[in-house]
Amino acid sequence: MKRIGMLTSGGDCQALNAAMRGVVKTLFNSKTDVEIYGFLDGYRGLIYSKFQMLTGKDFSGILTKGGTILGTSRTPFKTIQDPDENGINRVEAMKQNYYKLQLDCLVILGGNGTHKTANLLRQQGLNVVTLPKTIDNDLWGTDMTFGFQSAVNIATDAIDCIHTTAASHNRVFIVEVMGHKVGWLTLNAGMAGGADIILIPEIPYDIDKVINKIEEREQRGSRFTIIAVAEGAISKADAKLSKKELKKKLEKSPYPSVSYEVAAAIQKKTGREVRVTVPGHMQRGGSPCPYDRVFASRLGAEAGKMILDDQYGFMVGYKNREIVRVPLEDVAGKLKTVEPNATIVHEAKLLGISFGD
Ligand code: F6P
Repeated sequence: MKRIGMLTSGGDCQALNAAMRGVVKTLFNSKTDVEIYGFLDGYRGLIYSKFQMLTGKDFSGILTKGGTILGTSRTPFKTIQDPDENGINRVEAMKQNYYKLQLDCLVILGGNGTHKTANLLRQQGLNVVTLPKTIDNDLWGTDMTFGFQSAVNIATDAIDCIHTTAASHNRVFIVEVMGHKVGWLTLNAGMAGGADIILIPEIPYDIDKVINKIEEREQRGSRFTIIAVAEGAISKADAKLSKKELKKKLEKSPYPSVSYEVAAAIQKKTGREVRVTVPGHMQRGGSPCPYDRVFASRLGAEAGKMILDDQYGFMVGYKNREIVRVPLEDVAGKLKTVEPNATIVHEAKLLGISFGD
């Protein structure tokens, strides 16, 4: 008999359900008896003992379903070891619930913050297996996270839609893409959507270089320019500020996000008409794309196998086209960023894409 606790934590993404289904199918297809305890709304469910016993039926028909059947929430790692508003020690509460239910392990699906807490629980002696989810693709130890390809599709669709209207009106269009502090999503969607300029956090931009590119395009007869801007993009000047100075500047900024700041600077310096589109949380929504369904199912199957083998303390990752087991202590607290010298960046530049650097 195996008793498995499962939870999804942090921002949701496509294919969370597909991944959980992969784990559960693998376990149910083995000859082992299995009980699944689904903790609701992320770590909160484990802390406050909010769970549901799940059967095979709960995992049927969810391969194509976006979101998470367990619900999710953000439980910041920074404060996880502080008592909650009622003085409850949350780490101890998670441990107690784990032991009370006599769990053999926890299957935790999440991104960066989630992995820090998962590693903490491992250090505290709990058996943990994790799966890498996030549209940001910023998790260290895996070449790819599930949710990423689905989000690339949606952000690309947004850029595709902008293309026709941009061409008709002879305007500069900015599409702001999610990705938190990294540029994977913007880089991939920008290239897939044929953006002329791509601004990502890892390559701080110079607004004059951005304008040069717009003017160069016009001199060559192009009627419009499309700029894919990562929500975390930063100017060269701002990149020189300390964390504190930048925070202060952003607090005082009249712009809701960096895209509007870029738009205002272009408008002011050139008089051109600029429009901003922010697809926002659409990028995390809807059905997982076929790639993510297959990918998350494969990762889930490997997680199921690990549980059957009593192999704990790992994230199931993807390296050089292989599904791999990555020690949690190697993953926790590290960010996978776009290397400014990466071949994909060079190739994008060869295609004529400007990074504003
Ligand atoms: O981490 C996924 C993500 O969608 C980021 O791309 C984005 O910065 C953030 O979550 C948004 O978080 P929230 O849903 O809490 O607003």
